[in-house]
Amino acid sequence: MLYIGVDLGTSAVKLLLMEGNGRIVNIVSKEYPISFPHPGWSEQEPADWWAQTVAGLKELTENCDKSQIRGISFGGQMHGLVVLDKDDNVIRPAILWNDGRTGKETDYLNNVIGKDKLSEYTANIAFAGFTAPKLLWMKENEPDKFARIEKIMLPKDYIAYRLSGVHCTDVSDASGMLLFDVKNKCWSKEMMEICSVREEQLARIFESYETVGTIKPEIAADLGFSEDVRIIAGAGDNAAAAIGTGTVGDGRCNISLGTSGTIFISSRDFCVDDQNALHAFAHADGHYHLMGCMLSAASCNKWWMEDIIGTEDYAGEQAGIKKLGENNVFFLPYLMGERSPHNNPDARGMFIGMSMDTTRADMTQAVLEGVAFGIRDSFEVAKSQGIRIESTKICGGGAKSPLWKRIMANVLGIRVEVIESEEGPGYGGAILAAVGCGEYKDVEEAAEKLVKVVDVIEPEKELTEKYEKKYQYFKKLYPTVKVLWG
Ligand code: XUL
Repeated sequence: MLYIGVDLGTSAVKLLLMEGNGRIVNIVSKEYPISFPHPGWSEQEPADWWAQTVAGLKELTENCDKSQIRGISFGGQMHGLVVLDKDDNVIRPAILWNDGRTGKETDYLNNVIGKDKLSEYTANIAFAGFTAPKLLWMKENEPDKFARIEKIMLPKDYIAYRLSGVHCTDVSDASGMLLFDVKNKCWSKEMMEICSVREEQLARIFESYETVGTIKPEIAADLGFSEDVRIIAGAGDNAAAAIGTGTVGDGRCNISLGTSGTIFISSRDFCVDDQNALHAFAHADGHYHLMGCMLSAASCNKWWMEDIIGTEDYAGEQAGIKKLGENNVFFLPYLMGERSPHNNPDARGMFIGMSMDTTRADMTQAVLEGVAFGIRDSFEVAKSQGIRIESTKICGGGAKSPLWKRIMANVLGIRVEVIESEEGPGYGGAILAAVGCGEYKDVEEAAEKLVKVVDVIEPEKELTEKYEKKYQYFKKLYPTVKVLWG
């Protein structure tokens, strides 16, 4: 049997074909553009996602026995607002997870409605990238378009809808909308009222491993698939990545170094941190998780390498880095504002501490370290809640760098476990498809059986101590400079 995981990312859709025993048969990646129509805004065309997903599905499966394909599932960029009219036309480009236009709406939700109420209704407070503030923004700024909304959906759910005709979502992705009562796994009546949304506009909710329907016959014919291929709800990309890295059950941790940077802590029981600094969301294994999200992680490194110093030789550039723990340059990684823990869409990136002998390697190192320190900020919040984390998995494009993984292990002072494939969300999506088709009893069983640790990076005592001192300085920088961003 064959299963497909579709990771609808920010720079590309990555599709993964997996055998029932977990062996990866093929991986295909198809890029699409992102537009930044104003500073801090970020949009994409759902039509591009769909066209590239279909092209990717064809390429992915061209050399396999298509009659063996049983199920398709997803990991998708979270929080994006996709709105359809009564004829299923997309009303405006999708407003993405890293879009910072909703400062005013976020303030209204947090300070006029109040964080306590939001937390009571949804287990979370408002962050600029979440979906509910975007609806308020549309209502205020595009009232005609807002009035035409018939269906509200998240990015991966648009693909599931085009494939199956079912307006569906899953509990993990729904959690990031600020319209969802995470504890009770249902839409929040209070939030719908606050956002002038009707329940009919929202999707039917599924657990991530549940079947939402089968593939539409005309699409099955176009792809050469059987009409029995099941569409399984899937998950937000971080929950899917957690499945793909075996971060299931209680107290396990995964770090994702993709366009965003996240630290994800699984929990069997519902939990919320007392500051609401971390996101309290449902997990794709049927339980819950806490998560901190940085808006720019591997994207900081890409910006620095490709846009600023003009090279794609990441390994060559990192080979020049020799002084771990002794860098005098700091980098604040807030190129798109910051979510966790600062919740400030207006924050911006910054290098601090250069001198005449600062080298290009020092600057590159500062970028990698700045992202690691940003992850540490959320890690500290989790620790302050009494959560003990001794090791983490790691995935995403940044996890390809041995140096970055070593920096991460030493900045956090924990073991970093490297797994066979760092294709987190795509592999997680394929696992969810396999579970949905009955290949495994449940998500935990599948993840335990399929995910293999192939290497371990231990923190080094001396280096951890050096980074501890550096982190204490880093921690002071944001409060000192934030006056610059209002
Ligand atoms: C998580 C988040 C990002 C996106 C990136 O809250 O906003 O990780 O899901 O795809």
